[in-house]
Amino acid sequence: MTGFNTKLIHGQNINDNQTGAVNVPVYTSSTYAYPDINGKVRWDYSRSGNPTREYLEKQIAQLEHGTNGFAFASGMAAIHAAFSIFKDGDHVLIGDQIYGGTYRLINDYFQSRGLTFTSVNTQNLEEVEAAIQPNTKAIYFEPVTNPLLHVTSVRAIAEIAKKHDILTIVDNTFLTPYLQQPLDLGADIVVHSATKYLGGHSDVIAGLVVTKNEELGKQIYFIQNALGGVLSPENANLVRRGIQTLSVRMDRQQENACKLIDFLNSREEVATIHYPGVEGSHDHEVAAEECDGFGGVFSFELADDVDATEFVNSLQLIRLAVSLGAVESLAELPYEMSHAELPVAERLAAGITPQLIRISVGIEDAEDLIGDLKQALASATRRQNIHVLKRSLA
Ligand SMILES: Cc1ncc(COP(=O)(O)O)c(C=O)c1O
Repeated sequence: MTGFNTKLIHGQNINDNQTGAVNVPVYTSSTYAYPDINGKVRWDYSRSGNPTREYLEKQIAQLEHGTNGFAFASGMAAIHAAFSIFKDGDHVLIGDQIYGGTYRLINDYFQSRGLTFTSVNTQNLEEVEAAIQPNTKAIYFEPVTNPLLHVTSVRAIAEIAKKHDILTIVDNTFLTPYLQQPLDLGADIVVHSATKYLGGHSDVIAGLVVTKNEELGKQIYFIQNALGGVLSPENANLVRRGIQTLSVRMDRQQENACKLIDFLNSREEVATIHYPGVEGSHDHEVAAEECDGFGGVFSFELADDVDATEFVNSLQLIRLAVSLGAVESLAELPYEMSHAELPVAERLAAGITPQLIRISVGIEDAEDLIGDLKQALASATRRQNIHVLKRSLA
């Protein structure tokens, strides 16, 4: 069995041959009986191991081409586990545009427990290499950043990491193993917010870790079992099921993203579009080289004379919400929502302007999504004209 799509459906054996079930059962039992005091058991307690969770863990390890997979109660719990392999006095490099929750975890939690870090622009390889210190143990980054979709070469970063004998840890939430397999490009650990594309339906919070080798697998397993932030069997089942349709969903999401971008490109209310699929940028070159697609998220800036708040408030089909990667299309205004905690100067320095809109494209009919964008643009322009008129009358 070699095809990615076949692996999505049939990659793992079902553990329950007595019933012929074609899906792994949801094993809710917290504990498992020993045949006798000397008997060896495969499972003893569900924090340490659960057959439904294990199915998902093997599924993601196989798709990411790793040795071991681990499922956690959230993406943040998975990232916490990955960082927990480091010790007091260790130093890590982190991408300067990583998810805000990850930054908070490192800056406000791990730092007070003895870990130091330097945040670097991972597109600038000289800056990355220059920031490595004798106690640096890893580089952590997102190959495609949010919300500006900047792309970093996993291969180039992993080469630097190898040269200095440090680990490369990649958050592959945006691309998923369907579009990129970071371990094949030289990374050592992959983490996911499975809440996004892998779950795919906005109905589960989950996180995953995959390691390149057994040794790292042992370290993550120790943390998973010791700290205990495991994914429930019910939610493991939802992510398992989501993964089976990953490629068909992402194909449609990418197709829709291109149609929406074509439409927005033709509109004078739109100033700039950020999407690695748009040719002519460094981001496009790297993505075309290392990814099998450009993903289902893009962002764009409205022209100064278009009211961005009115635009997002006017959307009817596309829901105004954080998160991404699910079957329904979502829009957000990063300046006011996901990045509102950053001081204004930092937001602007990072390119997060009040006019920036991020869209996570769903699997609806593209024509309906375009119709929604069209009417929201009309409404936002009308509103802005009223502002201008009021100002000129005042
Ligand atoms: C890239 C990325 N990594 C990690 C996380 C955290 O995952 P979770 O919300 O599942 O804890 C998020 C959440 O938005 C994310 O976007």
